Amino acid sequence: MSAPNKSYDPVEVEALKPEEIERMRDEALAAFAAAGGLDALHEAKVAHTGPTSPLSLANREIGALPPQAKAEAGKRVGMARGAVNKALAARQAELEAERDARVLVEEAVDVTLPHDRLPAGARHPLTTLCERIEDVFVAMGYEVAEGPEVETEWFNFDALNFGPDHPARAMQDTFFVQGKAAADSGSAAGSAESGVVLRTHTSPVQVRAMLDREPPVYVVCPGRVYRTDELDATHTPVFTQVELLAIDEGLTMADLKGTIEHMVRSLFGEGLTTRLRPNYFPFTEPSAELDMQCYVCRGESAGNPDRPCRTCSSEGWIELGGCGMVNPRVLIAAGIDPEKYSGFAFGFGIERLLMFRHNVEDMRDMVEGDVRFTRPFGMEI
Ligand code: PHE
Repeated sequence: MSAPNKSYDPVEVEALKPEEIERMRDEALAAFAAAGGLDALHEAKVAHTGPTSPLSLANREIGALPPQAKAEAGKRVGMARGAVNKALAARQAELEAERDARVLVEEAVDVTLPHDRLPAGARHPLTTLCERIEDVFVAMGYEVAEGPEVETEWFNFDALNFGPDHPARAMQDTFFVQGKAAADSGSAAGSAESGVVLRTHTSPVQVRAMLDREPPVYVVCPGRVYRTDELDATHTPVFTQVELLAIDEGLTMADLKGTIEHMVRSLFGEGLTTRLRPNYFPFTEPSAELDMQCYVCRGESAGNPDRPCRTCSSEGWIELGGCGMVNPRVLIAAGIDPEKYSGFAFGFGIERLLMFRHNVEDMRDMVEGDVRFTRPFGMEI
């Protein structure tokens, strides 16, 4: 920086000559005009208005001039800088407007376009029905329990009091995965004697639930089960059962009946009754078949030819499933003292429930996976 200078020599301050200042201004204006975008304009701004730009450097020279020359040079530089800043602001505004207009076009969203070309699927009505049933029991304090679909013969039969030659074993047509001999060399759980089957019912989960927990036990066990049936309108080799098990002190058949009646009313409406018919299952004693009053005719079609009912075939009752008090032998197999505890169990298939609850006429519709079947049931979550 020059010291105050008495003998002013214009040659020493070339940078402050009017032509020089004009040139600097014009170069700046040309650079702004040439900037094609905001980034380029920013570079031009730094080059022409920044602390090391020619005009800023020239400005610094002013201080070294004698008063008269200082005023003139100050005015020249000031005007040039003013013009440069104004041009910069104008170009900035122009380029920003251009950018905004471009972004509006490029990023426009056409809200009238189809938003999704993949049609929404639907949950299977068996899944939603199963969850509804679980909810009824969870609300009563039950816990949802699950077990394996590939099960040992021990859990599927032996622990449930099916003797080795018990005709009940043949009663359920079983898919064998591994015979006894093969399973012996493997590590089948339960018993070294045990073969491996696709479970024929959800009752083995009763045993697993009792082994896993200390009484009292209140579990609801939904799951897929397998039997060697042909697929037709009323049979499928894979179907879904829900099993109920309660073990506590002092439970009786009355508790069983009250519990099922509550489920029936939750699913089908108030005021419906249930009835028990004697039956036999090796794992319950006494055992019964459980029917619910037909929720369409409410029993009025029975013996009344003037009022036929398709839902219950004019029986007045709909068969739900098997039930009974847990056989003490099963309690013992699961390590529970039958002197202290008693329990009830109930098992039913929900495909049939879905059939009469929603007038599904062919069971095959439930397994074919066609969304035209599932969609009308709606998107129940
Ligand atoms: N597991 C039996 C079946 O599949 C049903 C059942 C469950 C019966 C619980 C009594 C108690 O047929």
